[in-house]
Amino acid sequence: MNTTDLQAMRVSYEIGELNDSDAPESPFDLFTGWLKDAVAHQLPEPNAMTLSTLGLDGSPNARTVLLKALDDRGFTFFTNYESQKGNELAAHPRAALTFLWTNRQRQVVVRGVVSKLPFSEAEGYFAVRPYGHQIGAWASEQSKVIPDREWLEGRAEELRQKYPEGQAVPCPPHWGGYALEPSEIEFWQGRRSRLHDRIRYIKQPDGSWRKQRLSP
Ligand SMILES: Cc1cc2nc3c(=O)[nH]c(=O)nc-3n(C[C@H](O)[C@H](O)[C@H](O)COP(=O)(O)O)c2cc1C
Repeated sequence: MNTTDLQAMRVSYEIGELNDSDAPESPFDLFTGWLKDAVAHQLPEPNAMTLSTLGLDGSPNARTVLLKALDDRGFTFFTNYESQKGNELAAHPRAALTFLWTNRQRQVVVRGVVSKLPFSEAEGYFAVRPYGHQIGAWASEQSKVIPDREWLEGRAEELRQKYPEGQAVPCPPHWGGYALEPSEIEFWQGRRSRLHDRIRYIKQPDGSWRKQRLSP
């Protein structure tokens, strides 16, 4: 693909609006409405989100994870605590999440503080994951350099023998959940002529949310 093609690529965003009257007091209500809309429109992986962290060298890092719950504690995802992101969150427990629902011309950015969920919750969720995913979580020393693909397949096979299918696979001690408790949530709806709608919610000391309209 040459640069000319990239310069010609653009979409006019015309399918929605985010009016002040559409923005409820709680950003969770708006987020839930947008997530349900993404599911209803059969967007692929509507719960996928980019998790941005602060790297140990001070430069940013980002990768995709799946939202697995949204409750009073915030936005929950599961991963390997000894992965690169795990080490980064241990050092700097602050992160941002970005949801992109391209077909709905919407983006949501969430910023806040991240904390680990109790191990009992990891065990509960791990138990309902498919067998192959459970073996994968044991087999993967996530983010480590490995010799080759065969090494990984061999490790998975050893673990299939250790934990045969049909029997309960224990949750690895290094695997678990995080909750990001938001301090800010910004909703972006694409509009015609790049005059997009942006509404940012900022959490107040009393727990309420202040709304601001941002310039696109
Ligand atoms: C659609 C999608 C969903 C993913 N979901 C997860 C997830 O929920 N948890 C996870 O640990 N990795 C998930 N990954 C893999 C991560 O993006 C990443 O490669 C991995 O967690 C290692 O990241 P790290 O080395 O920065 O720690 C997903 C990747 C994609 C593309």
